[in-house]
This record gives sequence, structure tokens and C-alpha cells, in this order.
Amino acid sequence: MSFPIHRPRRIRRTEALRGLVRETRLTTAGFVYPMFVCPGEKVRKEVGSMPGVYQQSVDQIVEECREVESLGIPAIILFGLPESKDARGSSSLAKTGVVQRAVEAIKKARLNLLVITDVCLCEYTDHGHCGVVEDGEILNDPTLEILAQQALSHARAGSDIVAPSDMMDGRVAAIRNVLDGHKFEDTPILAYAAKYCSGFYGPFREAAQSAPQSGDRRSYQMDPANAREALKEVALDLGEGADIVMVKPALPYLDIIRAVRERFDVPLGAYNVSGEYAMVKAAAQNGWIEEKRVVLEILTGIQRAGADIILTYHAKDAARWLKS
Ligand code: PBG
Repeated sequence: MSFPIHRPRRIRRTEALRGLVRETRLTTAGFVYPMFVCPGEKVRKEVGSMPGVYQQSVDQIVEECREVESLGIPAIILFGLPESKDARGSSSLAKTGVVQRAVEAIKKARLNLLVITDVCLCEYTDHGHCGVVEDGEILNDPTLEILAQQALSHARAGSDIVAPSDMMDGRVAAIRNVLDGHKFEDTPILAYAAKYCSGFYGPFREAAQSAPQSGDRRSYQMDPANAREALKEVALDLGEGADIVMVKPALPYLDIIRAVRERFDVPLGAYNVSGEYAMVKAAAQNGWIEEKRVVLEILTGIQRAGADIILTYHAKDAARWLKS
């Protein structure tokens, strides 16, 4: 194997050659577009740290869903900004909650679009933690029933896939159990299986108004230094009945995506999170990077690492670029 017999540049000479031998073909078919639904009507408020991303009322969400569908993006994931918050996140269970109403409205519009709903408490609790708090401690087991009931209310509203992002132990089993007990045995669970305690969620917490009022999420989200533990988390979630697993964030954790891909033969998602999006947007707005090129490179990298599904705020732009 040596020069001059081998000249790797031979198959890099033209775009036709490069296209023929390309290993990763980035496709819109794996994109999921995240959306934030808020109360009111005709509300469309841009998130300061996330240009192009909006907090929107149900009517506006449906309009943007039409656009998402027309771009060939197969799915959205919904996050809710409720009317009221309390210690237990009760507003997340209401039949008339923001997410429930949005799901119903999107389904009523009969779009060719999967609706995934994020299942968590942090957007609905006054303390901003993903579970019930007692004496400054985030309690695991008392949180499970609330999460399961929230997932059930999403399924009843018509959610196609429920996606627990809280990182409580045993939540996939608790959700599976309650869904199955109410004839939702066919509703899949997308588990945020390896979710790291990350600084890259900053802009999301502005978008979802879900920053913890005190303390941090280190007692439930994973330590960024751990890789083996991610495999354990994935194995546990699969054992509890997760249909699809996810690694989050994406860019600082490409090795985790690759490791999960190699170890488990299940659909794998990666969340290209708010901070990753904000950095690209900020640099592009300053003219420091070429947005289109960088975004497509990032998404290709995430897919190349092994993700089948990519949750990304760039989905609409990338879908447009991949079309043309
Ligand atoms: C809720 C949740 C978060 C994200 C998705 N679901 C925030 C958090 O854990 O603090 C982050 C998504 C993003 O940053 O884009 N638990």
C-alpha cells in the first residue's frame, strides 16, 4: 500500500467522483425540529440567544409546522411554557395544558409530521428542577408517577412519541407501565438516555424559562467526564423499554454517540443543543464563519458519528440547503 500505486486524490478530483464515494449522505429524513409553545394567541417572540427560534402560541406553532412539513422534515419535538408553575409541575398534566393543546391542534391540521413531546418537570416547576424537591434534594421515586402521568396526558392528546428528558432513574419503566395500562402500548418512548449536565443548555433555559432557581442539575444529569456510564444508562433505558435512545449534547459527545452506535443495535438520536446552535449563529452573524458550510459540516459529523436522528434548531435551514 504505497505511493505511486495509491493516490487517494484520484477519487477527489471532481464533485461527481466525490459524490460517488461519499460515506455519509446527510439527509433531512433524520431531522427533528424543536419548538417552544406558550399561552396566548398570535404570540411569536424570538428567543434572544437563539436567532430564528421563537416562543409561540398554538396557532403560530401550527403555521410553522406547515412550513416544517413542506421542507420534508419528518418530526418536531415540543416544549411547553405553561401558564402557571408550582412545586410539583401540576400544569404539565392538564388536559388543557399548552403542550396538550398544541399536539391536538397540530394533529387536527392533518400534517404529515410526527409530534414528539418532551416529558420533564423543569418547565413546569416553580423551582425549575426536573423532579420533586424536598429539603433541597431532588427526589427520584416521587417524581416517577408525575412523569408517567404527564406522558399519558401527552399520549391522550395525540403525541406520536414521548421523550423523557428528566434523568430520574426508572422513569422509562414507569412511563411504559402507565402507557400500557391505558391502551397506549403502541406509543414509542424516545429516552434521553445519556444526558449530560452541560453548560450548552443555557439558551434553552431562556427559551423554556426552565433554569433552576437554586442549585444545579449535577445530582441527576451525567458528569461530562463519564463515557462508560453512558453505556450503562443506555442499557438500563433499553431494559426498561425505551424504543429509541439519545445522547445529549451532540458535539462535545461524538465519542459517546459512536460508542452507543457500536454497542447497541437500536435507533439512536443526538441532540444538537441550544448552546451549540447559539455559538454558530453568533459567529455567523459576526461574519467569522460561513453558516451554511459549518452547519452542514456539524450535522454530517453527528450523523457520521452514528446518529440516525438529529434534533437540531438548524433543521429548517439545513433542509433548505440540502434541497438546493
Ligand atoms: C429539559 C430539557 C433541557 C433540554 C431539553 N430538555 C434543558 C435542561 O436539561 O436543562 C435542553 C435542550 C437544549 O439546550 O437545546 N429537561
